[in-house]
Amino acid sequence: MGDFVGFGAVRVGVPRERAAGEQRVALVPESVERLARQGVETVVEAGAGERASHADDAYVEAGAAVVADFAELAAGVEAVAKVQRPSAAELEALREGTVLVGFLQPLTDPAGVARLGERGVVAFALESIPRITRAQPMDALSSQATVAGYKAALLAAERLPKFFPLLMTAAGTVPPAKVLVLGAGVAGLQAIATARRLGAVVSAFDVRPVVKEQVESLGASFLDLGVRGEETAGGYARELTEEEQRRQQDELERRIPEFDVVITTALVPGRPAPRLIPAGAVARMRLGSVIVDLAAEAGGNCELTVPGEEVERDGVRLVGFTDLPSRMAATASQLLSRNVATLLAHLAPDGELRLAFEDEIVAGACVARPEGVRT
Ligand code: NAI
Repeated sequence: MGDFVGFGAVRVGVPRERAAGEQRVALVPESVERLARQGVETVVEAGAGERASHADDAYVEAGAAVVADFAELAAGVEAVAKVQRPSAAELEALREGTVLVGFLQPLTDPAGVARLGERGVVAFALESIPRITRAQPMDALSSQATVAGYKAALLAAERLPKFFPLLMTAAGTVPPAKVLVLGAGVAGLQAIATARRLGAVVSAFDVRPVVKEQVESLGASFLDLGVRGEETAGGYARELTEEEQRRQQDELERRIPEFDVVITTALVPGRPAPRLIPAGAVARMRLGSVIVDLAAEAGGNCELTVPGEEVERDGVRLVGFTDLPSRMAATASQLLSRNVATLLAHLAPDGELRLAFEDEIVAGACVARPEGVRT
């Protein structure tokens, strides 16, 4: 069977998220049923799914037990599935050896991850699941980026005081809005597709040259800024050199005033977001233009973005929300829940936890474990 650590039958706990503004839930009733068929029982903290459109009754109908509070939940389960990192109080309440699954921010919060290990938790970070074909159904970064990209295009359309589509009316023709998407990864491609569906004329740019074809297949045009990066082994972008970054900023400063909307999604894992839009470019945009900065959480792609806020600068609306998937909590939770359930089923085949650390997915996703738990 290879190396594994067996824990026996598993019950998974689903807490109510306590982080400010977090509306998602890690498992929805649909997944509770699926896990039950695989022999995994679910225990839900009262109210856990409410803000993602799932009442406690729906969980009970799906076969889950509902408990009143986190302490009771933590005391009765072998695994906990969360969206956000546990709070200090939650971590304290977990039993030693508990398997924890969630967005644990291993690259940006190594101290928090170290505390999980010290506390004796076996921690699996959704961000660390290797991006290999076999793990695609568990890829929560992609599922949440899809929601964020969609929501970003809707927010932009709603904030822009113009139509997105070309319209011919008795009062004359209204030209379509021009949208620029910077960074055409998972979120960017979804933003392009959504803006196109709303009728905007869309251009996009990414440093990974392979993206050009994907952009064009969505009916958008690829903006040539004369900057080319290459792709790393994991499919991610590498960080540009200072010289390349300066050239990109200069070129964007020249081109950006053509657009009504700019949606930026450029990220390099574990690094501050690349600065693509200098303040000077914002000042040159038309009044009423909109920038939605999906990289706000990593500092923002635009120099003037205020992470978590919506502000106006030089007559341009800058949306720097860092919680877009949570703002579409039902779909975001539905997709996330499928990712989490697939990972749990992988960790507990036949309803029994068997942590096979020789497996690439288990080894890659595990970011902390107590000393006794090793291959
Ligand atoms: P991400 O969220 O890390 O970055 C978003 C985008 O920003 C990327 O496309 C990146 O190239 C781009 N970017 C970085 N620096 C930039 C700059 N200075 N200017 C313009 N754009 C810049 O990436 P995401 O969306 O999570 O995934 C990127 C790619 O990874 C996907 O498009 C895909 O090729 C690959 N991937 C593979 C998967 C698999 O095989 N299971 C699953 C998901 C993604």
